[in-house]
Amino acid sequence: MISEQDLHTTEAAPTRAYVLHPDMKAQRTRRLPEHGLAEAVALAAALPGLDVVGADVVRVSKATPATLFGSGKVEELAQRLKAEEVDLVLVDGPVTPVQQRNLEKEWGVKLLDRTGLILEIFADRARTNEGVLQVELAALSYQRTRLVRAWTHLERQRGGFGFVGGPGETQIEADRRAIDDQMIRLRRQLDKVVRTRELHRAARRKVPFPIVALVGYTNAGKSSLFNRMTGAEVLAKDMLFATLDPTMRAVELPTGFNIILSDTVGFISDLPTQLVAAFRATLEEVLEADLILHVRDIAHPESAEQAADVGDILDSLGVNPAVPMYEVWNKLDLVDDTARAAILDRGRSDRVFPISALTGEGLPALIEAMTTALDDERHVETVLLSFAEGRKRAWLHEQGVVEEDTATEDGHRLTLRWSARQRARFSEL
Ligand code: GTP
Repeated sequence: MISEQDLHTTEAAPTRAYVLHPDMKAQRTRRLPEHGLAEAVALAAALPGLDVVGADVVRVSKATPATLFGSGKVEELAQRLKAEEVDLVLVDGPVTPVQQRNLEKEWGVKLLDRTGLILEIFADRARTNEGVLQVELAALSYQRTRLVRAWTHLERQRGGFGFVGGPGETQIEADRRAIDDQMIRLRRQLDKVVRTRELHRAARRKVPFPIVALVGYTNAGKSSLFNRMTGAEVLAKDMLFATLDPTMRAVELPTGFNIILSDTVGFISDLPTQLVAAFRATLEEVLEADLILHVRDIAHPESAEQAADVGDILDSLGVNPAVPMYEVWNKLDLVDDTARAAILDRGRSDRVFPISALTGEGLPALIEAMTTALDDERHVETVLLSFAEGRKRAWLHEQGVVEEDTATEDGHRLTLRWSARQRARFSEL
């Protein structure tokens, strides 16, 4: 990985970065390499302090163990990188430590592979304690594998000082042990954070507001929609992963009913395995949702593939199939008239909502459907509480559902106007 300083110094001139997307003949997928490249460029552009000065798809019929690309290609690229005065090369795929070292030497640049790049983005975006810890953990485990493979060729260290390890211990073993110690510490901290979060979540369950989670592929427009709906300031710049950790905000539906909107981190395909846990930690909020809005960039040529990826991840998270899910087809303003007509036609289905978060088109229909799905009918009911049930009484008052509260001999008689959802939460108290 490159150091903090390399990426995040603001005064220094931006790092000139070049993105290469290896099109491996052996691993060709349904996706076009050009789209893979565009996605990688967008990911790189999301990092502060980076200036993407060029990008190429590089066809690789067979990966060369020492340098990934063949020697002719390495040389050709060397000239291009030199001409562009490139400092950092981002390879949108796995690069072995050996390949990395050789290419860095050959080209006189720093090099990051896809995992390294996504780690940098996660590190830049992590906001909650848990997010930060998970990213650190992922970075360490990535570093650890790099260490092992990058350094095994080194001769054994002479002696040793005795306090880092036994005599004759190799540098690599000492480094690995230091990393392991740090990982243990991080895991312990993480356990604590997760426990605290469970407490928070239990507290939140008592809030009667239903939760609406926005999920979707990276760059689909979740933050823009969140922004529109909440009118609050969220990172809705042209940045990927503007939201690594879920952002939640209470909003009021036109009927006066409150809901909590939750923005989540964007999904991407081929997530490196070390990053899966970090990514999932940020998505657990989705399991709590009463309604899921799957935001799609309908103008993207690979919109269907992206939707399939998102569907797979939601399945693997164990989202309750009983929770309603709407598809929000965003960026309607970007499609041509023919596509638009077809999309609007699909939009007549009650689970698909074509919108533009940019222009606001289609939002009233979406909000109306959300309201119908969430705004339960309220009914009036009388509840008797003993004096010992003061906590429940306070809860009911907090929720604003009490119409009348009369003291009786044994406690209180309350007349409530509440929804079935509130009633259910009350019974869990
Ligand atoms: P991640 O944080 O990476 O998951 O992205 P996101 O899904 O939150 O996307 P975001 O809201 O950041 O939007 C990504 C880009 O798409 C931004 O440049 C937005 O301005 C743009 N965008 C979002 N919605 C629309 C839309 O309806 N129309 C157009 N033309 N652009 C949009």
